[in-house]
Amino acid sequence: MFEQAKKNAAVFATNLVSHGMNIGLGSGTTVYWLIRELAQRVKLGLQITVVPTSQETARLAKEAGIRLAVLNDLEQLSLTIDGADEIDHAGQLIKGGGGALLQEKMVAAASSKLIIIADSSKLVQQLGQFALPVEVIPYGYKQVEQTILKAGVCKQIRLRKKDGDIFITDHHHCILDCEFEKIANPSSLNVFLHLIPGVVETGLFIDMANQAVIGYEDGRVEVINYR
Ligand code: A5P
Repeated sequence: MFEQAKKNAAVFATNLVSHGMNIGLGSGTTVYWLIRELAQRVKLGLQITVVPTSQETARLAKEAGIRLAVLNDLEQLSLTIDGADEIDHAGQLIKGGGGALLQEKMVAAASSKLIIIADSSKLVQQLGQFALPVEVIPYGYKQVEQTILKAGVCKQIRLRKKDGDIFITDHHHCILDCEFEKIANPSSLNVFLHLIPGVVETGLFIDMANQAVIGYEDGRVEVINYR
């Protein structure tokens, strides 16, 4: 769905990558198009090094002939380009639909700039329609679930499953998908969740995105600057 729009955003963002850059490479179906575009330019001589944010992105980038590094190898990244599940008017994000939120946030935090690429369906007035992924240590995930529910802010929580089994992240954690419907204050919710023992990371990316490149099906691309 929205493949053309995703591709339009990804192609636009490829032009923001220049020779010699170290970049963070996000995860998901929009970033898939970015990897394809970057691969073509690498074949034509563009030299870049990328830090992938998931095993899947690492696999795709390697297959495409793009040079890889791990986060510990580099002090600073010029840029990270990643997708998002929801983007509000202030550029606050929900991410983690693909389960790579921990690495995505670490890589984004190590970057001078975070650019989000997405189709226009990801733009929302208020975050929360998309269930918020919260990455937790499997040992005691039920306690975390109860603590969030007891706070009375969340309607329902689902332990993420894949093919009938508990979904396990690249770092061997599980994910609680928390249904809020509307998140009134993303920043304070993020702090609240982080204070619960056992929570490793949340899918709320607060004050991190500098720019969003939004693709539309008709070929238009909109650039929104946040900070
Ligand atoms: C991966 O964990 C996510 O944060 C993705 O960046 C997000 O789900 C966007 O993915 P799509 O581009 O596939 O919508």
